[in-house]
Amino acid sequence: MFVGRALGFGVGLLLLSTGLASLAAEPPIHPEIWPVASSVVPPDPAAERRIDDLLARMSIEEKVGQVIQPEMKSVTPDDVRTYHIGSVENGGGSVPDGNKHASPADWLEKIDAYWRASVDREDGHVRIPMMWATDAVHGHNNVYGATLFPHNIGLGAARDPDLIRRIGEATAREVRALGMDWSFAPTLAVARDDRWGRTYESYAEAPDLVALYADAMVRGLQGEGETFLDQDHVVATAKHYLGDGGTDGGRDQGDNLASEERLRDVAGAGYPPAVSAGVQSVMASFSSWQGTKLHASEGLLTHVLKGRFGFDGILFGDWNAHGQIPGCTNGDCPIAFNAGLDMFNVPEDWKELHGNLVAQVQDGTIPMERLDDAVRRILRVKFRAGIFEQGLPSKRPHAGDEDILGALAHRAIAREAVRKSLVLLKNDAGLLPIDPTRRLLVAGAGADDIGKASGGWTLSWQGDDNTNADFPGATSIWAGLRDKVEAAGGTAILSPDGRFENKPDAAIVVFGEDPYAEYQGDRADLALRTENEESLRMLLELREEGVPTAAVLISGRPLYVNPHINAADAFVAAWLPGSEGAGIADVLLAKPGGAADFDFTGKLSFSWPRRPDQGPLNVGDDGYDPQFAYGYGLRYGDDMMVGTLEETKSATEAAPPGVFLADGRGANGFALSIGDEQAPKIAAVGKRVATYGSESLTLRSIDRDRQEDAWLARWSGTGAAWVELLTDRPVDLSGDSEASLVIELRADQKPSGSVLLGLGGTELATIDVTDMLAAVPSDWTTLRVPLRCFETAGADLSAVTAAMRLHAEGPMTLALSDVALMKGAAGDACPSRSGQETP
Ligand code: BGC
Ligand code: BGC
Repeated sequence: MFVGRALGFGVGLLLLSTGLASLAAEPPIHPEIWPVASSVVPPDPAAERRIDDLLARMSIEEKVGQVIQPEMKSVTPDDVRTYHIGSVENGGGSVPDGNKHASPADWLEKIDAYWRASVDREDGHVRIPMMWATDAVHGHNNVYGATLFPHNIGLGAARDPDLIRRIGEATAREVRALGMDWSFAPTLAVARDDRWGRTYESYAEAPDLVALYADAMVRGLQGEGETFLDQDHVVATAKHYLGDGGTDGGRDQGDNLASEERLRDVAGAGYPPAVSAGVQSVMASFSSWQGTKLHASEGLLTHVLKGRFGFDGILFGDWNAHGQIPGCTNGDCPIAFNAGLDMFNVPEDWKELHGNLVAQVQDGTIPMERLDDAVRRILRVKFRAGIFEQGLPSKRPHAGDEDILGALAHRAIAREAVRKSLVLLKNDAGLLPIDPTRRLLVAGAGADDIGKASGGWTLSWQGDDNTNADFPGATSIWAGLRDKVEAAGGTAILSPDGRFENKPDAAIVVFGEDPYAEYQGDRADLALRTENEESLRMLLELREEGVPTAAVLISGRPLYVNPHINAADAFVAAWLPGSEGAGIADVLLAKPGGAADFDFTGKLSFSWPRRPDQGPLNVGDDGYDPQFAYGYGLRYGDDMMVGTLEETKSATEAAPPGVFLADGRGANGFALSIGDEQAPKIAAVGKRVATYGSESLTLRSIDRDRQEDAWLARWSGTGAAWVELLTDRPVDLSGDSEASLVIELRADQKPSGSVLLGLGGTELATIDVTDMLAAVPSDWTTLRVPLRCFETAGADLSAVTAAMRLHAEGPMTLALSDVALMKGAAGDACPSRSGQETP
């Protein structure tokens, strides 16, 4: 704890475990221990001969054009023509002319223009039509009006590979309706630490379920046999190879420390089945295995994936992930290519990369055979997908067909998927199914919010900026409940805050996490952060009023919500159901006569935590101690009583008020993160995090008095970056204006540029603490700044969401262990250079 700790203790150990991992050589891979797979898609000698012919006629520039994939926003049709670009993607939330309501016609006009440029070859160049790629990860989710299926975590609960195949088919048709060829799905991560922000993209913590679904989704998206990559199907992508769900601390883009055998058996489980089912593309992961970035791992990319699994399609990169390899930048990375990457995912810096690749082939840094191999794989997939024959995207079958996008038949599959993904955790009083002929109150912020129910990767990358008007044809959970109640002659009342005038016969409260994607969803623990108190208050009040109440949790991961489970009569985990909210009413409400229309069949595909701090919690673990085990899920008629569950506070919530960081852990809802312009909020989870690109800031956990009770923040001087303590729930510090913000730190390397200390809410007030830091002793010490200095600098102390932000540009190294508000002391004064503007 902060107060009373002897300063200057335990300093000796600090420099021992430095993160030199990124410099280490690639750990040895033993290909012989990996399974051998073989694709159902046979080699086609005729196509290979056509490829020989094309390769013989292509210049190095033309070949290189095939191996880089820019993003729509940063490449023009003219560029495609000039640089012989072979494919373009639209990234998460990237839509024609920034219009998220773009129509199929708008999309097709765009795609046509690029396609035309790719075949406009009067200059004697080889004519190779381009491919278009998109992230259709839960339906064609970047597109207005598309069907949104439940995210993978919900599909895992359904335990139904046939359903997965049908979702793949429906999704492929919606992608085809936009004239696109290729989807970056399915994600085959086996998420083992649910603090990971992409847990919801994972089907299950159990490798066997992921393997089963890998096969089903690849067949669904790509078709098989006669239907393989026909006009109803698209190229699928198994991602992110390899180990993305098993990183240390659940950190996105982190390091997987498993042994090679464990990597094979857990993270690797989905890949041999995906390759066997004929998957035509694999996306390499941002993450590392034992310190080596996957994009640099020749062992895993070339020897295991292409060698053992026999993968003969396109090994594609993730978004600038190659640029994270030591020695690489986004525009220059022969290492990844030589390790086996066939196509770079290089959204913006593709021109520079094109030039460098050409030069590197010319000077022998990249062997010509490697380039030819990569191009051969790309052309092979293009032949298999009929890219040479299909013609203009808008003229293909299904293109622009508004009856396919968001088709009723597709929505029916999504609704079925919602029904099957629901997991009934508790129904002690037998409240569910609810009689629809009575008076039902539907409460909670999630009830009538399709964006919230759909999560990240929905119309935008984070999915956090949508309203119901953004989802034509969709049904919110509330609308589904209302329709069924009204059809049965009952009364349904929507009340987001849970208040009512006439007492209802029953209530359903819908609440949970707000949308997030990728690293922005990384969390320090499994506590519910959004609407936690609000939803609990609602449940407790309804209980007090004697209203039988069911709780429906919307979330991208299992969460510790025992107080909510205790306060509700029934509890349903609904995951991220998507656009067909009526699937909830199908199961939760009875037929007018009283019997259920549909039973619950969903079973947990992730173990449910007993405490918020149960980070990695997986079936089969030693000492496995879940609240609800993997496979749990009640049905109507089960007489299982859950009773009262034990309630614990998360470590971060148990701290005394005014404490923001205690022994290196965020407290009172505050969590430590780092950021820079490119990625403003990267959660401090695991042992080491760094800003992307040139790693302007790295944050590493260190031992002060105890294991990992402090952090070492090192600014390298390559750009502005910050460490901060943030919360989603604003706190009111206006009553504490006599207190001082006290930061316990040790300055290992004094600042060489200016350092700003910020505090505030939507507006951050900053104070220049350069001189203060320059003057501290070299041992552990405290930096004390009266709160009123921030107030003077413009901070609104009544709604503070950032309790500390240390912003620096020049090199500096600080160890940090505790941050808290403490009683102002006599010597506390505002630093001389205060009142600076927001950085
Ligand atoms: C994600 C991938 C995605 C890609 C393209 C990356 O940031 O990690 O899952 O397919 O972007 O948008
Ligand atoms: C995502 C993209 C997204 C971009 C925004 C990437 O990591 O994968 O799809 O558009 O970030 O910066």
